[in-house]
Amino acid sequence: MILASALIAAVALVESVAAHGYVPQIKIGNQYIPGWNVPTDPYTTPQPLRVVRATKPDSGFISDPSSGDITCSIGNSFLPPGPITATVAAGGTVQMLWNTWPIGHYGPVLNYMAKCPGDCSVWKGDTGTPWFKTQQDVYSNGVWASDVLAQSNFTYTVKIPSNIAPGNYLLRHENLALHGAANLGGAQFYPVCVQLTVTGGGSLNPSGLGFPGAYSATDPGIHFNPYQGEAANQAYVPPGGPVYPGLTF
Ligand SMILES: *[C@@H]1O[C@H](CO)[C@@H](O)[C@H](O)[C@H]1NC(C)=O
Repeated sequence: MILASALIAAVALVESVAAHGYVPQIKIGNQYIPGWNVPTDPYTTPQPLRVVRATKPDSGFISDPSSGDITCSIGNSFLPPGPITATVAAGGTVQMLWNTWPIGHYGPVLNYMAKCPGDCSVWKGDTGTPWFKTQQDVYSNGVWASDVLAQSNFTYTVKIPSNIAPGNYLLRHENLALHGAANLGGAQFYPVCVQLTVTGGGSLNPSGLGFPGAYSATDPGIHFNPYQGEAANQAYVPPGGPVYPGLTF
């Protein structure tokens, strides 16, 4: 009995590590830039600097949207420990190249940014309301955005607004999996933060959302049953409110 439950626990642990996606690489223009490679980067000495914040200890999901992990990843780690940033022009794109994403982990793909007060690598972004929503894909033509991502070589293209002020930003890109979200606390959050330097741009300095703060477990977009059928899915409203008004692309 003890042996059996230990075995089940071990299998569950392996599955929790293996089944979930992470972002080992991003692409800006024609350039591939290393992200956070969960199976190797945490175990490499010296710790590699990456533009994608670490998730530690693995790529498991966050289930409590009010926890400190919700900002950027499990542990909301400062890693990489030094200044490193990927440069992108305002109005340009950042492709998020997930290693995998399971078909059927239904949900929206949500994107936020926050302007770092200086060097992003020493700023957690977890206090106040520095975040604003830039882009969201939800459900259309009977398909969840997560399934579109899974069928697009696990790639999602983030658009950087053309009229935000230049400077250093955290991009918070998130898969929200709702396959277990009919139960309160059953939603799975997979936020990924990228340290960006935005060039060009305009003078808009949006903010207004906090992570933690913007989400709560009882939000209708978080406590949601995605198996109710087409009409319910079409009526689904994701958490975090609308895209910040006035952004141009
Ligand atoms: C799929 O994405 C990987 C990187 O995640 C890339 O190396 C590969 O070229 C892509 N394949 C296609 C067909 O675009």
